Amino acid sequence: MPGGRTPLRLGLLGCADIAQRRALPSLARLRDITLTAVASRDAGKAESFARRFGADPVTGYEELLARPDLDAVYIPLPAAMHAPWAGRALEAGLHVLVEKPAAATADEAARLTRLARERQLVLMENFAFVHHRQQQAVRQLLEEGAIGELRSLSAEFAFPPLPETDIRHRPELGGGALLDAGVYPLRAARMFLGDELEVTGATLRVHHEHRVDVAGAALLTGPTGISAQVGFGFVHSYRCGYTLWGSAGRIGLHRAYSAPDDFAPTLTLECDGRTEERRLTPDRQFTTLFRKFAEAISRGDVAGPARDIERQARLVERVATTARRFPL
Ligand SMILES: NC(=O)c1ccc[n+]([C@@H]2O[C@H](COP(=O)([O-])OP(=O)(O)OC[C@H]3O[C@@H](n4cnc5c(N)ncnc54)[C@H](OP(=O)(O)O)[C@@H]3O)[C@@H](O)[C@H]2O)c1
Repeated sequence: MPGGRTPLRLGLLGCADIAQRRALPSLARLRDITLTAVASRDAGKAESFARRFGADPVTGYEELLARPDLDAVYIPLPAAMHAPWAGRALEAGLHVLVEKPAAATADEAARLTRLARERQLVLMENFAFVHHRQQQAVRQLLEEGAIGELRSLSAEFAFPPLPETDIRHRPELGGGALLDAGVYPLRAARMFLGDELEVTGATLRVHHEHRVDVAGAALLTGPTGISAQVGFGFVHSYRCGYTLWGSAGRIGLHRAYSAPDDFAPTLTLECDGRTEERRLTPDRQFTTLFRKFAEAISRGDVAGPARDIERQARLVERVATTARRFPL
């Protein structure tokens, strides 16, 4: 294998909620990756995570990176810590799977991906949802012409208010709805409209106390004029989907970004005046993501995941710089 060994020995940086709820249980299903060590700032937390997931506990992230028995790390830290710790891990010679957003700015993404290319290490951003089979079902319908020619996409990811102490409320940790929730519908827009998207307009609503954006929207336009309208936030009722609107109908997906492993998604197809609900089979998007990570390392595919990170960061930055801000 060009870039690793089997099974790949993985370290975890930060005993995050997403790690214990989705990532580590998904990892346990794979034979080609093994969780070797987990690091926390807190020794007790590292101990309990390690016991639960059968790994070595480590106190401190630097201490984990210094271990000689790792090939890769998974980084589910607060957003502002992603790029700095991904950079340190790459410098330590480790492949990196980092939570979204891999970087908060386009420059930061460029620096990080340059480092990954120089070191010939895989740096992948965790957008597990693109690997869920429900996305293939939508793409297939689109390709078959089920809704005619695509005219526009609307995509939203938003949820009700979070606890006061949540990392997403803290500007110094890279909090805010654009970097946390907005990145999903923007990734969905890239999936269907490609990477030459112009940001025609955007708004962000900034929380008066927390000083982070808690709601936002953007209008994007592709080179041929197909548009995408995205909405996101965490002061909303729950919405986690997208609708593709074509010349002859519409396709809607209702749990597009965060489908649990046992969840059977419903796809809505509207055409010829009829609405049909199709129940799809559940899929394990996090397990697939980890498998893709291991495969990229095995193939030595450094360029593909890095390019994706750069394109995503450029689009997110364009939304942030275009946005007109309003207080909330
Ligand atoms: N891909 C997805 O589907 C998905 C879903 C949810 C979240 N996420 C992403 O995953 C990341 C973590 O989200 P989460 O909801 O799991 O957050 P969380 O439970 O708050 O975990 C963040 C972890 O970061 C570490 N940390 C280091 N410095 C910290 C600080 N100053 N304050 C707070 N925590 C600090 C902590 O680990 P220790 O205390 O152990 O050091 C903490 O457990 C975020 O980037 C988020 O965007 C991705």
